[in-house]
Amino acid sequence: MSNSPLSEPSPPSGLEAAPTRPDAAPGSAPLSSDQEAPTDPESPSALEPAAPGPEAGPPDSASSDSSGLAFSDDAPAPYSGVRRGLLQAGERVNLHGGNGRRHSIRLAPGQVFHTTKGGVPHDALIGQPEGVVVASAAGLPYIALRPVLEEYTVSMPRGATVVYPKDASHILMFADIFPGARVLEAGAGSGGLSLSLLRAVGPAGRLYSYERRADFAQTACRNVEAFFGGPHPAWRLRLGDLVESIGPEPVDRAVLDLLAPWECVDAVHSRLVPGGFLCCYVATTTQLGRTMETLRAHGGWTEPTAVEVNVRAWQAEGLAIRPGHAGRGHTGFIILARRLADGVQAPLKRRRPAPGAYGPDYDGPRPRGVERPDAETT
Ligand SMILES: C[S@@+](CC[C@H](N)C(=O)[O-])C[C@H]1O[C@@H](n2cnc3c(N)ncnc32)[C@H](O)[C@@H]1O
Repeated sequence: MSNSPLSEPSPPSGLEAAPTRPDAAPGSAPLSSDQEAPTDPESPSALEPAAPGPEAGPPDSASSDSSGLAFSDDAPAPYSGVRRGLLQAGERVNLHGGNGRRHSIRLAPGQVFHTTKGGVPHDALIGQPEGVVVASAAGLPYIALRPVLEEYTVSMPRGATVVYPKDASHILMFADIFPGARVLEAGAGSGGLSLSLLRAVGPAGRLYSYERRADFAQTACRNVEAFFGGPHPAWRLRLGDLVESIGPEPVDRAVLDLLAPWECVDAVHSRLVPGGFLCCYVATTTQLGRTMETLRAHGGWTEPTAVEVNVRAWQAEGLAIRPGHAGRGHTGFIILARRLADGVQAPLKRRRPAPGAYGPDYDGPRPRGVERPDAETT
């Protein structure tokens, strides 16, 4: 694509080339200034330079407090991705049918949403409150609701698989992502987790997202700008491999959703503040084991923990109260550890590993104090 921001010397709105370390490979992208914003976030031109930078004020200030952020009874907090008030032309709305299906439409005067049971005119929705019920020409009812972050994340265009909302919500709480936090993320993929992280850190925070594939970075950029209605002032999307192009900024939290997080442990440790959380999201048990053993062998982390988040929906109809039929299978494992202070090593575990855990067949990284079996016998 000729207007691809990533084929140009300067990156697109919201997307910056990752800073190049002195020892980075030749041809790595150079450090560039923060990028400007697009005007129409859902058009390809969303990737063209054009908008307010990080220092720009929030839109439509009604009043402001000492933080300088705008608040109003009518307007949601800036950069929440939330709208209030009557439905307007140009905004996206979900139509929820009686069969549990959801249809996403962008409201446009004069347009019609077609169903097998006749059409629903957009004009019947424009100017109505959220939650209004409209019927198709043949009487099929639909509830009109604005999409929320969870719905947007699972339905937005994607290149890479997104972190599912059940896992993203766990990450936000247990990696302690807070307003104003400086967070490192890799890879950005489709921007699914970036959305949740940006909402949590807010406009006063920073999210440094690294993505090594240009096409995925563009998708992430489009998705994030479409959700927030433009560039998010906290976001620095950097094109490049995390290890080769990690920026100099200290960060409070780091979240890795990539194939080989163990390759990034040293790099992240060098930027994470003492006490800061590292969260790794991995799909398979082999990734889980290697990541945890690498963290233990490194020694600069607390003992890592791992969880899988299982959520089960329930039905409750009269006396029929039971688990729902629909369910999502395995998504991923969430590994968490906290960075220790410089120059200290994690205390040796007092509990001995399970017999055979690090036996002759194990050839991965070894925690300190756990020797190879042949070394013990010689
Ligand atoms: C599963 S996807 C991330 C999905 C993302 N968390 C989301 O919710 O949309 C993994 C991404 O990591 C990128 N990646 C893998 N290794 C990387 C590295 N060392 N540095 C930067 N990006 C990397 C891949 O290109 C891929 O887009």
